[in-house]
Amino acid sequence: MEGVFHVKQFFSFPSRSPYDIKVQIRTFQDGKMGRIISISKQKGGVGKTTTAVNLAASLAAAEKRCLLVDSDPQGNATAGVGVQSLRAGLYEVIVDRVRPEHVVCETCMKGLHLIGSTGDLIGAEVEIAAIPGKESLLRGSLRPLADTYDFILIDCPPSLGFLTINALTAADSVLVPLQCEYYALEGLTQLLKTIKAIRSRLNPSLSLEGILLTMYDNRNNLARQVAQEVRSHFGPRVLETVIPRNVRLSEAPSHGKPVILYDVVCKGAQSYLALAKELMGRSSFKDDKAKGLG
Ligand SMILES: Nc1ncnc2c1ncn2[C@@H]1O[C@H](COP(=O)(O)OP(=O)(O)OP(=O)(O)O)[C@@H](O)[C@H]1O
Ligand SMILES: [Mg+2]
Repeated sequence: MEGVFHVKQFFSFPSRSPYDIKVQIRTFQDGKMGRIISISKQKGGVGKTTTAVNLAASLAAAEKRCLLVDSDPQGNATAGVGVQSLRAGLYEVIVDRVRPEHVVCETCMKGLHLIGSTGDLIGAEVEIAAIPGKESLLRGSLRPLADTYDFILIDCPPSLGFLTINALTAADSVLVPLQCEYYALEGLTQLLKTIKAIRSRLNPSLSLEGILLTMYDNRNNLARQVAQEVRSHFGPRVLETVIPRNVRLSEAPSHGKPVILYDVVCKGAQSYLALAKELMGRSSFKDDKAKGLG
C-alpha cells in the first residue's frame, strides 16, 4: 500500500443531499486513463457488493481517485458507502441521458465518489427497450470519466441481464467473486461465455481482471478443497489475495461504512487492502491469448 494508512484522514461526512454537491472532479494532467472494472457474477450473495464497496474504499485509502457505480436496483453498494437518499443516480444516466458528473456524489470516504442506484433502475430495461445500441449506453456515459478517475468499479446485479451487459460493455476488465463452497463453479462457465460474446460483439478489449476467492474459511475442509481445485483449474486467472469469511465485513454495511472505517485491523479489512495493492501492482490479462478467457 502506498504510504501509511490513517483511518481519520479518509473519513468524510456524506451530504444529506448528495445531488446538490458540487463535486470537484479533477482531470489528470498526465493523460493517463483509469481502469473500469465490472464486478460481476450472476449468482447471488457471492460477495460482489462487499468486494465493490471495500475494494473501492481500499483504493481510495491508497489515494487512488475512485468512482463506485451501483448498477444494482437493490442499492446495496449505495447504502454501503453511507449514502441514504438520492435524488438522481444511474437510472437518470441511462434512461434520461443525464451527464454522469451531474449525479456523482460524495460518500463517507474521502476520495471515493459514487453514482448511486435508486429502485427505479429496475425499470430501466423496459423503458429503453426500443433504443438502438442500448447495450452501450453505460459505456458512452462512463468512458469520458476514465481520465478523471484511477479506478471506476461497477457493482452488478445477480443476473446476466441488461444492466450486467451494459457494465461488461463499459468495462476494461471483469472481476469475478467466487464463494469457496460447494457449487462454487456454478454459473462460471456461463459467465465466461457471456464475456466472450461481449468481446466479439460489443467490447473487444474486455479482459478478465481475475477470479477472487471470497468468504474463505480456512478451518473448513470443503473451502480448502474448493480453493485448491479452482486454482489448479484456472491457474493465474485466480487472484492471490483471498477474502476470508469475517463477521466485521457483514456488520460494516449496517453502519453505512466500508470495513476500513469500521474496523481497520480486522482480517476482512486487511484482505481488501491487500486486494487493492495486488490490483494496483498488476495489469489485467493484456493480450488476446492471455485475456484469461481461453
Ligand atoms: N467475506 C465475507 N465474510 C462474511 N460475510 C460476508 C463476506 N462477504 C460478503 N458477506 C456477506 O454475505 C452477504 C452477501 O454478500 P454481498 O451482498 O456482497 O453479495 P452479492 O454478490 O453482492 O449479493 P447480490 O447478488 O444479492 O447482490 C452479505 O450479507 C454480506 O455482508
Ligand atoms: Mg450485491
